[in-house]
Amino acid sequence: MDNGQEVIQKFWRSRGSDATWLSGQRLFANINWIIPKVQQNTDVIMDIGAGSGELTMALALFLDFKKCHLLDINENLLNEAGKKIHFINPKAQIYCNAIDISDLKEFSTVDLCLCLGVIIYLLDDDILRKFLAKINCKQLFLRAPCTLKDEDEEICTYSEALQAKYAAKYRTVNNTVSIIEEFFAIKEYGRVFPDSIESKFGTKQYMFNCLPRG
Ligand SMILES: C[S@@+](CC[C@H](N)C(=O)[O-])C[C@H]1O[C@@H](n2cnc3c(N)ncnc32)[C@H](O)[C@@H]1O
Repeated sequence: MDNGQEVIQKFWRSRGSDATWLSGQRLFANINWIIPKVQQNTDVIMDIGAGSGELTMALALFLDFKKCHLLDINENLLNEAGKKIHFINPKAQIYCNAIDISDLKEFSTVDLCLCLGVIIYLLDDDILRKFLAKINCKQLFLRAPCTLKDEDEEICTYSEALQAKYAAKYRTVNNTVSIIEEFFAIKEYGRVFPDSIESKFGTKQYMFNCLPRG
């Protein structure tokens, strides 16, 4: 039996620099959801699982941040991301950190944090809880593909489409909400993509606008 978390590490570390390239309607839908809801003061931002940086780069067109922390398990993707963001906001200090979020190291305190399409790669709910507990920010946008089935769905299988072993955990919307709410107040949440651009797997992308508790 494969260890799903190891499958995830191997899969993402081995991807080329175009692995997460996000464009067209998907990029637009994310930005359209996030930008009107961003609060004041975004001097310091962090993107956890930044991939090749399209979303952070698009945000940089709207937000004039001074510092940007980019985190990802894949160093090639991070380098791409850093270059893109420097191109849009050359005055910002950019910190690229190749980390595995399941190692649960400390994060910098930031104003705005993005965590988009990443928590499905934390298979264990308790590790997800420990990860969320470490995020210290004034606002968090978290996006996750959720299953519409009655229970969470964990996959660990060879994908013909990706030509690699792949693993992920698709939590139900209710379970995702209840885990997030242990650490953040969810101001609003909802679907990000129209059906036409959703995954063929049947999951739906939900975005959560989260604020610190209290
Ligand atoms: C689906 S992509 C999302 C990229 C981008 N945030 C977006 O929304 O387009 C998932 C990203 O999470 C990263 N990732 C997966 N598992 C990770 C882990 N354990 N630690 C850190 N990054 C991880 C991958 O390398 C990849 O860049």
